[in-house]
This record gives sequence, C-alpha cells and structure tokens, in this order.
Amino acid sequence: MMKQEIDTLLQETLDRLARLEDAQELEKLRIEVLGRKGEIARLFKQLGASPAEERPTLGKLLNEARLRLENAFQEAKLQTGAASPRVSGLDISLPGRLPYLGHLHPITKVSMEITEIFQRLGFEVVEGPDVELDYYNFEALNIPKDHPARDMQDTFYVTENIVLRTHTSPIQVRVMEKQPPPVRIIAPGKAYRCDSDMTHTPMFHQVEGLVVDKDVSFGDLKGVLTIFVHQMFGQDVDLRFRPSFFPFTEPSAEVDIRCVICRGEGCRVCSETGWLEILGSGMVDPEVFKMVGYDPEEVTGYAFGMGIERIAMLKYGINDLRLFFDNDLRFLEQF
Ligand code: FA5
Ligand code: MG
Repeated sequence: MMKQEIDTLLQETLDRLARLEDAQELEKLRIEVLGRKGEIARLFKQLGASPAEERPTLGKLLNEARLRLENAFQEAKLQTGAASPRVSGLDISLPGRLPYLGHLHPITKVSMEITEIFQRLGFEVVEGPDVELDYYNFEALNIPKDHPARDMQDTFYVTENIVLRTHTSPIQVRVMEKQPPPVRIIAPGKAYRCDSDMTHTPMFHQVEGLVVDKDVSFGDLKGVLTIFVHQMFGQDVDLRFRPSFFPFTEPSAEVDIRCVICRGEGCRVCSETGWLEILGSGMVDPEVFKMVGYDPEEVTGYAFGMGIERIAMLKYGINDLRLFFDNDLRFLEQF
C-alpha cells in the first residue's frame, strides 16, 4: 500500500519535472515534494504507523526515493539555468561553442612558401617601406624623371617626390646603399599601381630577389629561378625565359609559366597565349651599381621581382586575381 504510494510519488514527480522549464515552478514543485511539509515528509510520518516488520524495507525505499528526487531536482535546476529564470531548455552539459578560428590568407601562405624556398637557398629576408621616395622607386633604378619607362607602371603619387612604390625593386637600392657586397636577399611586400583587370589589381604583392658578388652570371639567375619554379609547382612544370626590358637590368628576361587554367591551349586568363608571366628579372645594370657606390668592374649581380598573386593563381587554379581581395569567406575558406 505505502510502497505503491512511494512509487507513484517518485514517478509522477519525475514526469512533472521533465515537463517543467521554469525555475520558479521547479522550486514550487520541490517544496511540494521535498519541503518540510511536503509529500516525502508526510510519507516519513506515515512510516511510523506502518507495521513494524515492513518498516525497515519501506524506510529504505523512502530514503532512496528522496535521494533520487533530490538529485533530479538538482539536475533540473542546473538545466533551467536557475540563475536566470527565462533561460529555458539550456543544456549546460553540451560542449561549448568554440570561438571562430581564422586562418592565413592564401596570399600570405604563398608568400611564406616562396620565402621559405629562397631561405633554403641561402637568401636573407629584408623589408622596405610601402610609401617610397621617387628616388628609390625610379631614379636610382635608372629611370630618370621623363624616362618613357615610367609609363610602364601607372604610379600613385603621394606628392611630386613621394609615391606608393610600384614594385619592390627600390628595396634593392636601399640594401646596397647600406652594405658592401656580397648581397643575397629577398624582399617580400606590397606594390601599388593604377591597374585593374582579371590579372591586375591596384594593390598586389611582389617578392624581390637580389644577388651581388664576384662572377655572378645569367646562368646563376636561370638556375635559381628554375629551382624555384620546380619547388613551387613541381618538377614537370613548363617555364620559359623570354627576352624583355627593364631600365635597371641588362640583359633582362621575363619568366612565364604554362597556364594552368587552360593547360596551354589559350584562354582569357593567359590572353590566348597559353602562358602567364610571373616575374621580371635580369643582370643588375652597371648604372644601378654606380648609384649605390658599387664598382661594376668588381661585382656583377642578378635581380628578379615576382608577382605573388600570379603564383597563387597558378598554384590554386584561380582565374580572377580580384577574388583574392573581395574577402568573401566562401572563397577564402577553401585554402
Ligand atoms: C617589375 O615590377 C620589376 N620590378 C621586376 C624586376 C625586378 C625586373 C628585378 C628585373 C629585376 P613587372 O612590372 O613586369 O616588373 O612586374 C613583375 C610582376 O609583378 C609581374 O610579372 C606580375 O606577376 C606582377 N604584377 C605586376 N603588376 C601587377 C598587378 N597590377 N597586379 C598583380 N600582379 C602584378
Ligand atoms: Mg611585366
């Protein structure tokens, strides 16, 4: 008889508890069942009136029921978030929501990868300013004020004598001004030009390279760049050296890589040529050496400047360079 009552109380209370979401109602129910004048207390009183031989078993049962209910209320209280009654159905045993973890931008990644390859080849990493004197960006690189070569790069002028650097080549001059030969550096950084289409953006990144020493040859340049391309893209990737012109190198060459978008068949990205230019390079012009006080009879050198976005495009098979700067997470999260 009393056993039945205990079981019913236990079961009913647990059922009601499961349906309760409000902390205040929960407390009301707790007092009703476990309070000093509650159901359990009433049953304990009733225990005294039950037959003596049943008392130990019933007492044990009742104690167990009380304990179970106490635990159940404790748990329910935590789940309703007793501190704020309006938070309902909160399961505090669920794992927490992790903070959103960002990651490196694909351009940063490729830049680091390029840098590491050259570091392994013994190059030291240096930097230079984005806002640059006209002198370093042009004049010291053998591009005087009214030289037609200035039209090759659409410059953002800050003042008449200060520009946003149009390439990383001014860093060559800054390094040579500061130290005697030998030099073996690379310089990654941003460059700016008034330019925008599928393969050009107004801000982009370059890695400059410069090696100056006794008896540095064009063969050394070809060797280093070929090793670089093979490490970056794989041994089987086609590249070609194409004669070109820069006022600060002589002879000069541009390096193209087989277009990965169309695999050389010709497409919009490679302007139907099957090749994509990734860098300019050449033997440092004696005029540049003279500007920084190096003796062109004593030393020779090579330099190169590569476009990081172009390399990232080829590496990931991306056909529009502007995607890198739209900051659309659906794009960025693929890397
Ligand atoms: C130069 O900027 C020379 N300073 C490179 C150089 C360095 C030659 C040292 C000789 C010795 P060029 O303008 O071709 O060269 O640019 C080099 C690379 O930068 C290009 O091959 C291309 O990959 C990248 N580039 C140029 N303009 C843009 C642009 N608007 N957006 C993205 N990449 C660009
Ligand atoms: Mg070019």
